[in-house]
Amino acid sequence: MDTRDLIDEMTAYYDRRVPWHDEYMSFRSDAEMEILLGPIISLFEQNIRGKEVMEIACGTGNWTQVLAKRARLVVATDVNSSAIAAAKRKPLASGNVVFEVADAYSLESMNRVFDVVFAADWWSHVPRSALPKFLGGVHCLLRAGGQAIFLDMMMKEGFAQEKAYFDDEGNRVSIRALPDGGRFHVIKNFPTEGELREALSPFADDIFYYEHDGLRRWLLTGTHK
Ligand SMILES: C[S@@+](CC[C@H](N)C(=O)[O-])C[C@H]1O[C@@H](n2cnc3c(N)ncnc32)[C@H](O)[C@@H]1O
Repeated sequence: MDTRDLIDEMTAYYDRRVPWHDEYMSFRSDAEMEILLGPIISLFEQNIRGKEVMEIACGTGNWTQVLAKRARLVVATDVNSSAIAAAKRKPLASGNVVFEVADAYSLESMNRVFDVVFAADWWSHVPRSALPKFLGGVHCLLRAGGQAIFLDMMMKEGFAQEKAYFDDEGNRVSIRALPDGGRFHVIKNFPTEGELREALSPFADDIFYYEHDGLRRWLLTGTHK
């Protein structure tokens, strides 16, 4: 399968996974998420407070709820309208969220700029060869001094047990099944701190990296160059 096909297969997988996504992610409620992921949220919440935030690959809107409570405006985007529909069903008290369908590989066509671009559990799905295109798009969306915030997962037991292989460009591709019988080849990379810094450095200064070992998550931030 070539890289373009893997990008499309990942998109198709998450479209079909919407009914089970929150359960798979253990996202039971906004309140539980705030407690569980509080140690990570506290690291970036000051960076989004009162800001205009663009969220990439918002999925079913769990992080959108976290952002909406702190930001002035959130434009929450995903390429799958099924995910956006599920996100719209989540309670959002603040009335400051706009949902839009948008492809993370065509961000430059949005013709808008934000204070912050945020993406959770997305970087790991981007093929290594597509990172410059994706990060170039993020750069286009940030106003001068704006910040990119990425959160994602570190390798943990469930992933280590998945059937997976490495493709020609070094992407880790896992073979995933859904309860409806669907079977998909999904890129799920676990980049090192050095790889993350190297990929972001053409686009950002003041790069900050943090790992929370207990939560098996990393956080990467950088300021628009
Ligand atoms: C691992 S989920 C993360 C969702 C959400 N951020 C979360 O943490 O629950 C990946 C998301 O990427 C979305 N996606 C897949 N391909 C995409 C693309 N090309 N552009 C934007 N979003 C995409 C999927 O629809 C899915 O919602």
